[in-house]
Amino acid sequence: MLVISITSCKDVITSDAFYEKDATHLVQDALDKKVDSVLNLMTLEEKIGQMNQYNGFMDFTGPVPKSEDIKRKLEHIKLGYVGAMLNVRGVKEVRAVQKIAVEQSRLGIPLMFGFDVIHGYETMSPIPLAEAASWDLKAIQESARLAAKEASAAGINWTFAPMVDISRDARWGRVMEGAGEDPFLSSEIAVARIQGFQGTDLTSQESILACAKHFAAYGFPEAGREYNNADIGTSTLYNTVLPPFKASNDAGVRTFMNSFNQLNGIPATANKFLLRDILKEQWGFKGFVVSDWGSVAELIPHGYAQDGKAAAKVAVNAGTDMDMESHLYVHELANLVKEGLVDKSVIDDAVRRILKVKFELGLFDNPYKYCDLERENRVTGSKEIIDGALDMALKSIVLLKNENQLLPLDKNGKNVVLIGALASDKNSALGNWRAAAKEHTGISILEGMQQYDADIVYSKGPELILGKAEFTKEIRINNTDITGISEAVKAAKDADIVVMVLGEHGLQSGEGRSRTQLTLPGVQQELLENVYEVNKNIVLVLQNGRPLALPWAEEHIPSIIEAWQLGSQSGNAVAKVLYGDYNPSGKLPMSFPRNVGQVPIYYNSKSTGRPSLPSPDFVFWSHYQDEKNDALWGFGHGLSYTAFEYADLRVTDNFSFNGTLEVMVQLKNSGKVKGKEVVQLYISDKFSSAATRPVKELKGFELVELETNASTCIKFLLDQSHLGFYDNEGNWLIENGSFDIWVGGSSEAALKATIELTALE
Ligand code: BGC
Repeated sequence: MLVISITSCKDVITSDAFYEKDATHLVQDALDKKVDSVLNLMTLEEKIGQMNQYNGFMDFTGPVPKSEDIKRKLEHIKLGYVGAMLNVRGVKEVRAVQKIAVEQSRLGIPLMFGFDVIHGYETMSPIPLAEAASWDLKAIQESARLAAKEASAAGINWTFAPMVDISRDARWGRVMEGAGEDPFLSSEIAVARIQGFQGTDLTSQESILACAKHFAAYGFPEAGREYNNADIGTSTLYNTVLPPFKASNDAGVRTFMNSFNQLNGIPATANKFLLRDILKEQWGFKGFVVSDWGSVAELIPHGYAQDGKAAAKVAVNAGTDMDMESHLYVHELANLVKEGLVDKSVIDDAVRRILKVKFELGLFDNPYKYCDLERENRVTGSKEIIDGALDMALKSIVLLKNENQLLPLDKNGKNVVLIGALASDKNSALGNWRAAAKEHTGISILEGMQQYDADIVYSKGPELILGKAEFTKEIRINNTDITGISEAVKAAKDADIVVMVLGEHGLQSGEGRSRTQLTLPGVQQELLENVYEVNKNIVLVLQNGRPLALPWAEEHIPSIIEAWQLGSQSGNAVAKVLYGDYNPSGKLPMSFPRNVGQVPIYYNSKSTGRPSLPSPDFVFWSHYQDEKNDALWGFGHGLSYTAFEYADLRVTDNFSFNGTLEVMVQLKNSGKVKGKEVVQLYISDKFSSAATRPVKELKGFELVELETNASTCIKFLLDQSHLGFYDNEGNWLIENGSFDIWVGGSSEAALKATIELTALE
């Protein structure tokens, strides 16, 4: 029963046309007319209904208010009091719920169906932090495209991704979900992911809405404790936190999600400065903002609203357009409008934004666009998607250390022993945020290695966790039971090489999973050191969702691979790298500390007045008594089975302020095999009158593949967007003066040039 009289949107609202500059205003006008034609038919309650999102029929995160039950939710859909659902998935379920909205509500406005498609839907790709380690934007975009393809086939039309929160604190569990510590890399990756999810045509059956989250500063919780408040200065806010969000908006992301945290004393969900002043006014965001789960209601415990009514009022007035699972808009907004505490125009603006996105998706043309059972069966777990997951997993692996060429392993005949509970775990490597994945469906490292060595000896060692790992429950780590260590030591004694798979359980990072320690959990360090006593030829394969502090391993273990949680194809990818069928090229998107006491640690820090030791033993400089200042493995670090040489860094001297600056460097593969290198360019604005600049900032990178002995010239173009920054009032500035430029294979890049910018008036 679609009672709205509108012509088909298809001819006008293809996003191709939508994004074409010349046609934009025409398309926008047509779209606005359609939106208004619907809006004019709606009662206040129906409008508010569009601003209400309910969780489906599973409790995934957060407390669900007890007062609402399924029956009530379905009743609300019939009344037109629901605009979107989350966690309703699968063609059968989505079709059934959509049918109620379309056929039984008065206006028949279709629902959106959201889901956390964070790194794959049913087929899991690597956790986002791992994907970021590839620095391969094409691959990341393709990974998001495949995730959208699989999710859309299951009825989903909106993902709550990408998470673009910068974080410098590995104690925070959600670093697994972002792209690390750097605003430039994170912005590029955000755009790649958005393009992958949304495609070039939102009306395509394979495109889903993306959502830039969590706006803003959720990645800066004090002391790394989940949901804790962020107190950050404007320099960090404008130059570090906001850029990936701005890039997301510029890339056409259709939705934003705000965050649980307070920012400088004001909860993000009710933060007018963030939502209205910056996002909607300054950046001109045209999509809509959804709250985080229950975050409108959380304004009460935050101490920002005394009750539900006040919470709904401040959230909506601040610019939160849709309420996810607080049930407060649907209960409070109509009265607030009637009492004059919320202006009708605020409601109309929010509803317009939401309806517009539904038109853009093509839901008014076909509400069942994502509900094709045959497509669901054909696409889910298809070869294309599995191959894509393997490709992304291979590209995400980082070789941290490889002494004495212990790797790659010899395919013929070395006696390799595999140790560690994670090595045979088919669940953990799927990582967190994998609600649609089938349990225990990841290829384990043991299975991967068995394809090369059918009789490989495997000794599990002690358990990592006790009991079953569950998404909503605390993980219980085995901290005491060392059963299995002596057997592992025995197995390792006569091996040529020992591969040890250690790290964190897949559900040890993610939401609600902060840690105060960054060491190997449980008794794994003890296992490692015991095995090392009898056999020093150890390849350590790390599986973890955050940077860990592993100084002992870095000092003693000859070869170390960072294999994160690589998803469904994890074991196949790791085995290919171990046996040399794939040459790793990943680089760290986040610094690995030596000690948790260094956190937050990040390469692009500011200097201090006393940055270096002036004379031996002198104490009054910026340092620790008991630890070095630098990271164990810094941002951008990652090795290869081949070697790369950098030479001949040149910078053109014809820089004028309206032009570009060319930076060139010669790269040679001087090793024995073909390989890929991420060439990285960093700048430092040495002196600034407005606000100090970081000691180094990434401003360009290029993934290059070279045959052995081949050389190539890499060229970067730097323009004003790379050399400027935001002052503490949020104004964009570029100043004359000296800039250092480094190019190399990590943030430790050694080749340096200095330029003098003089062209500014
Ligand atoms: C998370 C969001 C997520 C939402 C819906 C919240 O707890 O913070 O990132 O999208 O739940 O599952």
